[in-house]
Amino acid sequence: MSSIQASPNTHETAAPSASYYERHLFFCLNERKGGEACCAQHQAQEAFDHCKSLVKAAGLSGPGQVRVNKAGCLDRCAAGPVLVVYPEAVWYSYVDTSDIDEIVESHLKKGQVVTRLLTPPHLGR
Ligand code: FES
Repeated sequence: MSSIQASPNTHETAAPSASYYERHLFFCLNERKGGEACCAQHQAQEAFDHCKSLVKAAGLSGPGQVRVNKAGCLDRCAAGPVLVVYPEAVWYSYVDTSDIDEIVESHLKKGQVVTRLLTPPHLGR
């Protein structure tokens, strides 16, 4: 008499293969009232819009590629304006849209971190 035994893995789903996005960027766009330091004081919205446009124009946006998202305060205001790129968890402090150009060209297109724009590790809020 034969029997069929259920494998302990019968109800498990397949392991996730890859991240939904190859890279996911978060731009702090936080604005504080009363003149407190915040990324919005440093043209963060303009940089975000610029990055979205570049990524889209380069055909890099979408599943399996790049997603650029708004974020609230990332608690690194002293280094602002900041953005972070996952999955590498690379933090950048940028000055203007030319820095965003460099991040897109180097990091997003070639996988090379722009070391001159790295957020100093000790800077938080
Ligand atoms: S306001 Fe941008 S990190 Fe806090």
